[in-house]
Amino acid sequence: MKRVENIFLRYKYQKDNIIPILQNIQKQFNFLPTEVLKYASQRLKIPLSKIYSLATFYTTFSLKPRGKHLITICMGTACHVRGSTAILNEFERKLSIKPGATTKDMNYSLETVNCLGCCAIGPIVVYDGKYIGEFKLKDIGRILKGRA
Ligand code: FES
Repeated sequence: MKRVENIFLRYKYQKDNIIPILQNIQKQFNFLPTEVLKYASQRLKIPLSKIYSLATFYTTFSLKPRGKHLITICMGTACHVRGSTAILNEFERKLSIKPGATTKDMNYSLETVNCLGCCAIGPIVVYDGKYIGEFKLKDIGRILKGRA
């Protein structure tokens, strides 16, 4: 676990720092590998079930390898009313994947979320952490060409 030791060191092996530790692991691997979570459980003396509950609660974490780019589509009520289903369908068609999956070339992961708390500017698509409000179907091509 040499690869992650510096992360634990930086946070002084304190269990109160579990969230930033998981954020750093996520950043380093682009997901949370099972063996690293087990190691975190041992080193921080936190039950593995507790770590998994955190890892599955926050959408920023993933238990599966993510692609180079993460596309998250809000499917909450306000965004749904403003067309998020059509946006999701078009991303699925263009990328040939369903939400929760990653393209074979590992370029894109597609995810959905239920309300990002900025309903007034919906529909919302989040591309690599950048919120894009009032998203239109025509914006999909721009995103997939790396011009978000
Ligand atoms: S429903 Fe999409 S931000 Fe609230």
